[in-house]
Amino acid sequence: MKKVIMDVDTGIDDALGIMLAIRSGVLDVLGITTVNGNVSLEAATLNTMKILEFLQADPGIGVYPGASRPLLRRPHFEHRVHGEDGLGGALPDMIPSNRSRSETYGPDFIIRQARRHPGEITLIATGPLTNVAIAVSNYPGIVHDLKEVIVMGGATGTYGNVTPTAEYNMYVDPEAAKLVLEAGFPRLALVGLDVTRKALLTDGDIGAIGDTAIARYVRDSTRDYMRRYRERNGVDACAMHDPLAVGMAIWPELYETKRYFVDVETKSKLCDGQTVCDVQNRLGREPNVDVCLRADSGEFIRRFIEVLRD
Ligand code: BDR
Ligand code: CA
Repeated sequence: MKKVIMDVDTGIDDALGIMLAIRSGVLDVLGITTVNGNVSLEAATLNTMKILEFLQADPGIGVYPGASRPLLRRPHFEHRVHGEDGLGGALPDMIPSNRSRSETYGPDFIIRQARRHPGEITLIATGPLTNVAIAVSNYPGIVHDLKEVIVMGGATGTYGNVTPTAEYNMYVDPEAAKLVLEAGFPRLALVGLDVTRKALLTDGDIGAIGDTAIARYVRDSTRDYMRRYRERNGVDACAMHDPLAVGMAIWPELYETKRYFVDVETKSKLCDGQTVCDVQNRLGREPNVDVCLRADSGEFIRRFIEVLRD
């Protein structure tokens, strides 16, 4: 089994990413660190614990709260997209098992695990990169201890989803994102809006999961998310941003990447959080990111449904 740590700001699609990881049967989830983003750190932690409880996941999978705010900026929650609670109102009565909540600070957990299993861990980050940046700052050697980092974030050849140019995870903590991109990870993959906007889940797909508690959860949690996605994008579906990033750890053969130099804008009122990909190497800088250019989204959605089906 592939060892992974997930870093999440749970979040409707983060929750579906967690479901995919836990149910895939091929990932050994060592723990889940939480970060402020879509919702507050407290809410992201609670939602993560609820999902683990709902899945009846191994109680050994701990939840490790990390940063409660971006490095330098104020939080920017996305209740309009993810609902007041962050799960689109699903699982309102779920009482999560407290066994999963740990006192260990999220970035410390990432560092400890990376040192314990050098070269073995894939870190999958589906929220703002604050925890990852803190881990890198406190222990720069982590760039060689982690096997790879997969980030849901950025929009390298397309428009943004929070400002005209910026993708949400990059926008919320661009200083953290910049620090992570510049850290020198030998393998750092960006799964951005260019590909995640094509991984669309429809009502019909949810129907194909079957008549199960999981299918009902997916329908409940995505109802408003899908409505908003339809209003914004004119399609009857919603994007599986975070699950598609998780999928890269499970089914790498579905993804095509290319190494480029990528930087994040941090000093522009108009463009903060924009990921700039130097396709023609005009800056002459060493490539630092494996940018995901294509993913077989049809096959991904088919396998995603299969994993969620009982
Ligand atoms: C990202 O932003 C968040 O709202 C989602 O959870 C996802 O991680 C997509 O831009
Ligand atoms: Ca997220």
